[in-house]
Amino acid sequence: MYMSREQDLLRMSELTKELDYHSHKYYVENAPEISDFEFDALLRELQELESRYPDAADPNSPTQRVGCDLTSEFESVEHRYPMQSLSNTYSEEELGEWVERVVKEVGDMEFVCELKFDGTAISLTYENGALSRAVTRGDGRRGDDVTRNVRTIGSVPLRLQGDDYPALFEIRGEIFMPYASFDRLNAEREAAGEPLLANPRNAAAGTLKQLSSQVVAHRGLDCTLYHLAGDKLPYTTHMESLMAARRWGFKISDNIKICRSRREVEEFIRYWDAERKTLPYATDGIVIKVNDYAAQRSLGSTAKAPRWAVAYKFQAERALTKLQSVDFQVGRTGAITPVANLDPVPLAGTIVKRASLHNAEQIALMDIRLGDMVYVEKGGEIIPKITGVELSERSSDSVPFEYIEYCPECGTPLMRYEGEAKHYCPNQSNCPPQIVGRIEHFVKRKAMDIEGLGAETLELLWQNDMLHDIADIYHLDANRLASLPRLGERSAANILESVRRSKEVPFERVLFALGIRFVGETTAKYLANHFVSLDAIAHASIEELAEAEEVGSKIAGAIVEYFADENNQRIIESLRTAGLRFEIEQRRLTSESLVGKTVVISGKFAGRSRDDMKTLVEAHGGRNLAAVSANVDFVVAGENMGPAKRQKAEKLGVKIINEAEFMAMISSAPQIEPPIEQESDSKSEAQPIQGTLF
Ligand code: IVH
Repeated sequence: MYMSREQDLLRMSELTKELDYHSHKYYVENAPEISDFEFDALLRELQELESRYPDAADPNSPTQRVGCDLTSEFESVEHRYPMQSLSNTYSEEELGEWVERVVKEVGDMEFVCELKFDGTAISLTYENGALSRAVTRGDGRRGDDVTRNVRTIGSVPLRLQGDDYPALFEIRGEIFMPYASFDRLNAEREAAGEPLLANPRNAAAGTLKQLSSQVVAHRGLDCTLYHLAGDKLPYTTHMESLMAARRWGFKISDNIKICRSRREVEEFIRYWDAERKTLPYATDGIVIKVNDYAAQRSLGSTAKAPRWAVAYKFQAERALTKLQSVDFQVGRTGAITPVANLDPVPLAGTIVKRASLHNAEQIALMDIRLGDMVYVEKGGEIIPKITGVELSERSSDSVPFEYIEYCPECGTPLMRYEGEAKHYCPNQSNCPPQIVGRIEHFVKRKAMDIEGLGAETLELLWQNDMLHDIADIYHLDANRLASLPRLGERSAANILESVRRSKEVPFERVLFALGIRFVGETTAKYLANHFVSLDAIAHASIEELAEAEEVGSKIAGAIVEYFADENNQRIIESLRTAGLRFEIEQRRLTSESLVGKTVVISGKFAGRSRDDMKTLVEAHGGRNLAAVSANVDFVVAGENMGPAKRQKAEKLGVKIINEAEFMAMISSAPQIEPPIEQESDSKSEAQPIQGTLF
């Protein structure tokens, strides 16, 4: 059937309205009216229409919720109103005094008590009812523009309901990851051999800074709002603003209460200190706010935080449970970690069965004994820790804990390095978990990124005598691989393809993958940039190594020790023969016109996107900076560059040029000849080879 453009556009607007309505039902009200299947069908219909009429696409279309795989750094932007933090207290006594001080200053008051959500703060701007900007807290004055990622969060309305919202306003709240999403994400990461995320707060903050919004869309973030900001808000109290925001479609917590006295505030706190354990997301306290805006204004703010609000923080949750036994894990560096096996106990949203005991000294210091009732807490780390023993419950026949003296895996006597609390198994070349651990580290995503070699498969290869060290990965035999149980031809072919691709991994990651003690991802980058090649690092003295950024004598010592080991030397030669990159790749520049120059790109450009402009800066040897400072050589100003940025540049005497001047600057410079070998980028493959070849 032929449909006119008008009819299609009409249908697009209908679909948009319908999808917005059902998103709100699903994400904000938790009361879906249609099935996921029906929702997806509507969404696909809209996607299909949008692809036919790209000129009619709306950045706030419900289709943007699925994210896109474009990646770009985030632009740093200034907050319209600074994002303040809150004064904290852990003591009910202090909180009571705060309530009384406020009452003394502004008279009898209503206080609004709310949960303190444990996530990452966000400020959303709405213009004429549409989401126009989402900015992280940053330093309170400037934050990162993460709009594209925030659009993927189902509970954030892209368009508001009703018609009584201000034409322009900001609303602030918390983006958080519910326990269910957090557990799912960590289970996926564990299966993929990726490092686990410590807690839902880190997970939310990390997710929001993901470069690809498609990834964000699948992480199950949620967003609750708790503060309306603006010059001319139509309400006289905080509570009225929140209720209006709820009508406009925002997710506002149900657990909010108006309290009229110190006693009522304390009751609210006590209730939630116990009850928060039943919530499906993390909270770390209660926020108490003066309800009346006039009273808020008269109380004012300090430089950092408002005087009209305060946060009461809960004590970290802890649980008491029985210590059944202690395992000793041997890591890839030979470090021994004692791990406690506990009677399962619920703690902050998960069931805890194991906890870290750190090292022999900690065990002795706390006098932890088998059979003791011990306290466990979740700190910032993934694994909960034991923080103490309940001595009143100790049985009379318990004996002090005896630490092991021999490696539980290979029987070698353990040793200790000076200044290190941990015991080590020195048998690097033959202790099985050290070898398998090193291989696991070598293949992981941030290292050589070899797929299909998870812990189980590696174990299988090890048992079948096919893998003794990391170099063996490059000599795996396709037939033998395919004949292993659970593998088969297809998986074997995938593994070998991934192994082949890993030969293209840049040098700094190869260096990290080697698993030299103390050489993490960042140190590997510094070392690679400083020394350029593996051979230069292998031949450097401790003093020379310590000249590189971030490298002290401890790291330098570990590097020298690594390259002095004959087994390691043999592995390195084998990896060299396999064709791994042992040198950093020199960046091929289009010209050197901007070498040594730092540039700020700001505003919108007529000819190209901001990202393209930044790529041009780099291609000509320059460095991009986000903010104007005295270190900046010049600013390229597009349309609507922020007035604050312009003012700052003018004040510091930083040159401001426009797009045309910038293009003239880079195109007048002598161009470096294009490389003869084309990059294997799909676009250039599809085209005839150009340049100096013909
Ligand atoms: S009000 C000017 N309310 O806690 C007042 N903050 O430690 C703005 N937070 O930066 C904050 N739940 O990220 C407020 N119900 C709540 C909150 C809350 C969590 C966070 C927020 C803030 C931090 C301060």
